Amino acid sequence: MFHLPIQDPASATQTPAPPPVVDAYGQLTKRASTFGHVDDLFYFTYAVCIFFFVLIVAVLLFSVVKYRRRTWDQPAASNTTHNTPLEVVWTVIPLIIVMIMFAWGYMGARDMTIAPIEASRNTIKATAKQWNWTFSYPNDPAQSYNEVWVEVGRPVQFLLESTDVLHAFYLPSMRVKRDVIPGRYQTVWFEPTEVGEYHLFCAEYCGKDHSQMYAKVHVVSAAEYGARPWDKWDDSTPEAAAKSGASLYSQICASCHSVNGSAGVGPTWKGLFVKNADGSIVGRQREVIEGGVRKTITIDNDYIVESIRKPDAKKVAEEPYVRNAMTAFPDLDDRKINGLIEYMKSLADSK
Ligand code: CUA
Repeated sequence: MFHLPIQDPASATQTPAPPPVVDAYGQLTKRASTFGHVDDLFYFTYAVCIFFFVLIVAVLLFSVVKYRRRTWDQPAASNTTHNTPLEVVWTVIPLIIVMIMFAWGYMGARDMTIAPIEASRNTIKATAKQWNWTFSYPNDPAQSYNEVWVEVGRPVQFLLESTDVLHAFYLPSMRVKRDVIPGRYQTVWFEPTEVGEYHLFCAEYCGKDHSQMYAKVHVVSAAEYGARPWDKWDDSTPEAAAKSGASLYSQICASCHSVNGSAGVGPTWKGLFVKNADGSIVGRQREVIEGGVRKTITIDNDYIVESIRKPDAKKVAEEPYVRNAMTAFPDLDDRKINGLIEYMKSLADSK
């Protein structure tokens, strides 16, 4: 094993987070006490492949040279068509090897699937949608987006759900990967051993922004975890709420809605509200289609709430928005929606 030269030893003693470490084959070092079989099986398969590659290529090259035809009319050196003992050997030995791989992989998949009781009592729900992750903590109304906190040394289970298409929960540092399948719950568990920050990827092609769909996993001490670092929502003043709303916007809305007027998958947020000369902020008028009927509405809080929770109720009567569908966020709580509305209002220009 060797360390990447990212941190000098002096600063390493001050930072609790371990430096990124890779092994001799370039694999990220495992930061979980669980699933040693992933690496063992990987290296076993790797070694088997190298062994047979070398063996087969050596026999091939030897035969090409030794038995090559030296003149155009040279007769065949042998007319042998088969050799039963040899065929039995090269069938039975690979069969035994692949059965070992199968049994090893099966035991590993079983361990990953059956969570111990401590992990199932500490279950975080991860909801995947195009193209972000939402995390809900046990007995806690606050949620976090594209960032999740887990406690070091404590087994944790993730309950995986998708609200749209296939995604996959892939956390290479913990050696876990599981498909997230719409219409069904999947689980995965692990026990993190090192405080630090790790990457969670979506490992199933899920549309245009699949490559943007990743989250940060913070492994923290029990004391830090107890402080509920995921609940950072400040809405003490309208300005603070707008600021919280802006950061939520960049996490879950920005992939489809611009704030500068440019067209996206969804309509821009610029100009939803306008500022009057007296400083009051009012909603603009907008053409929408509701239940197949075209009508003009005034944008207000109720319309925004409805558009977040039930986006199809009133669709903007303009291409391509009539056609494009938005994922609903039915579980976004009132404080968060209010923060988003404050942020939309903060984008209002004077009339
Ligand atoms: Cu979600 Cu790829």
